Amino acid sequence: MGSQWGRDKVHLRAKQEGYRSRAAYKLIEIQHQFEVIRRSDNIIDLGAAPGSWLQVARTLTDGRVLGIDLNTIPPMEGVESIEGDLSDPEIQVLAKSALGVVNVVLSDASPKLSGHKSYDQARAIALGEESLGFACSVLKYGGNFVVKSFQGSDFPELLLQTRRHFHSVRTFVTQATRKGSTELYIIAKNFTG
Ligand SMILES: C[S@@+](CC[C@H](N)C(=O)[O-])C[C@H]1O[C@@H](n2cnc3c(N)ncnc32)[C@H](O)[C@@H]1O
Repeated sequence: MGSQWGRDKVHLRAKQEGYRSRAAYKLIEIQHQFEVIRRSDNIIDLGAAPGSWLQVARTLTDGRVLGIDLNTIPPMEGVESIEGDLSDPEIQVLAKSALGVVNVVLSDASPKLSGHKSYDQARAIALGEESLGFACSVLKYGGNFVVKSFQGSDFPELLLQTRRHFHSVRTFVTQATRKGSTELYIIAKNFTG
């Protein structure tokens, strides 16, 4: 998967299977491994554009699916969307009132890279913390949360913060993650408040 050929193959497969991006395979793996989504769950997906996680989530639940992104999410049948910043409290209130009960929050949000490694790392961790804040403000007790993050000096603090709010917290590197990347996902289950 790390070679140019490997990347092209995954990209091609995503295209053939009708996914909006290769990121779809990451959520498929996470679900396969951890069963974060149940059939009746209402789901919020943060940093959802262009929408491949929304496509996967739509197949996994009969509940409602809502995507939020700074960018416009191209329309998708059976999926609601909000264009806005996940760290904006008004967006959080809007999302909560749209769905009522929220069982699962997913976040694959990542900042635009500046090319300055330490700045980008800090920004990515901050986005993870903002996603955690979002999840804690909308999730039903017992709900699940998945957030993308990156290995680095600030990562253990994000993990610790997540552990304060969930009964079970694991980390997971997907097969679909590019080789050499420090990307990983925090899988947090059973929200305790
Ligand atoms: C890697 S893409 C997500 C891909 C998506 N999971 C999919 O499967 O199509 C990361 C997204 O995070 C979004 N993002 C970054 N910061 C954000 C913020 N503060 N609020 C909302 N979305 C944000 C970006 O606009 C971008 O679309």
